[in-house]
Amino acid sequence: MKRTHLQCGLLCFIAVVAVTSHAQTIAGRWATTVKTLDNGEVQTTLLELKQDGNEVAGTIHTWGFSNRIKGTVTGTHFEIFNAGEQHRRPILVGDLINGELRAKLWGDRIIAHPATPGDEFPALPYIPPPTLHQVPSNGLAQTPPMGWNSWNLFAGRIDDQTVRTMADAMVSSGMRDVGYIYVNVDDTWEGVRDTQGNLQPNHKFPNMKALADYVHSKGLKLGIYSSPGPRTCAGYPASYTHEAQDAQTFAAWGVDYLKYDWCSASHVYKNDDLQPIYQLMGDALRATGRPIIYSLCEYGTGSVEKWGADVSGNLWRTTGDIRDEWASMIDNIHRQVPTAPYAGPGHWNDPDMLEIGNGHMTADEYRTHMSLWALTAAPLLAGNDIRTMTDETKSILLNKEVIAIDQDPLGKQSSPTKSGDLETWVKPLADGSVAVGVVNLSSAPAQAVVTEKDIPLAGHIHSARDLWARKSVRFIHGSYSATVPSHGVLLLRIYSK
Ligand code: GLA
Repeated sequence: MKRTHLQCGLLCFIAVVAVTSHAQTIAGRWATTVKTLDNGEVQTTLLELKQDGNEVAGTIHTWGFSNRIKGTVTGTHFEIFNAGEQHRRPILVGDLINGELRAKLWGDRIIAHPATPGDEFPALPYIPPPTLHQVPSNGLAQTPPMGWNSWNLFAGRIDDQTVRTMADAMVSSGMRDVGYIYVNVDDTWEGVRDTQGNLQPNHKFPNMKALADYVHSKGLKLGIYSSPGPRTCAGYPASYTHEAQDAQTFAAWGVDYLKYDWCSASHVYKNDDLQPIYQLMGDALRATGRPIIYSLCEYGTGSVEKWGADVSGNLWRTTGDIRDEWASMIDNIHRQVPTAPYAGPGHWNDPDMLEIGNGHMTADEYRTHMSLWALTAAPLLAGNDIRTMTDETKSILLNKEVIAIDQDPLGKQSSPTKSGDLETWVKPLADGSVAVGVVNLSSAPAQAVVTEKDIPLAGHIHSARDLWARKSVRFIHGSYSATVPSHGVLLLRIYSK
């Protein structure tokens, strides 16, 4: 009897554990409308989830963007990540309680209910874009654009006052004087359209023209952001069906640079429409008569490097968003290697903005970041707080000799050759000299050797500079070697006789 009782106890315990840890299903289509945007509109977020045991996968949609997500359910509890980012923090964590998902989504408390037809995003008509045609070059960006952009550090927390103080700091820190000219307001500045359809800024930007005047008074230029779709990535009104009107508005404000981000355009257009849709805004910008740099942002879809210049693009993103971590930075630069033949004066491949100074890479890694962007003639758009830069960050962003590699008028985008964990990037420069960067991808220091025969110089080596050590170095018997720290770089500029 006793034995039976004991046996039942153990079995019952196992049964109870099995029942309580059994994943409840959160599969389905869920909606939450908790987030209010800075323009007063309420944003709907839809979660489309499928579940297999305790594994869950699906998509998160706002009107602005869609992302694949993946996670687990244990009992009533779920933890969901951006797909492929399970090593990072979950974006959605919570519990299934009384038929609702009670959770934190990107840190905000939400309650999601089963979606009803009223939660769905409006279906907008497909408006066939104009046919592609030849357009003249706008003549801008003869060297890769340089400046600052609000997104990497501030994301949605950017406002007029912050931009003004950043413009002040661009001057006082010396950034402007070494070439960082554009002060670019990224997403979340948008308000709503007035009765004539003119897009207004939201309360964070009380007077965009006055802001442009202020930025111009500092010898700087102002950049702004929109999307060809109905909504920007962050869910704000964008330029769909208002392209010409928005271009005129931006020009009237005194805007000098437009980043045009695909995002919700995928709700309305097909990927085949990328070129004509980007050309539509390119034409609208040209029609304003104002010189406005045109930055395409569609993450490299449809081999943008092959046609970006034909639709008036001065630069185009080649990858997804950079993060302030080594793996992300290196991945972005590697992904854009095949685009190298298409870079040149007036039209540049953009592996995304700089993370230098944002705190999650080492100084060696940030020097590598800056060197690789310079060697690949990438736009240099700082993404840190210029007002509070450390001396180390300054010494990286303001290194004139490294900037000169990026801004070289020949405009060649270097590609790497690999030997073990060392990657060598060679960039021929307009004056016949050559920049050579050796990056150490390993987690231990390594010995880099640069030999004369590997450098495309017209004659023998006359002299060489180590651009980070800021000193001359000597090649002995046609070779130079140095120890490169883990994730560090040796960056030389080598001159011939
Ligand atoms: C996309 C872009 C980013 C940034 C955000 C703004 O993710 O790739 O660079 O502009 O949108 O919402």
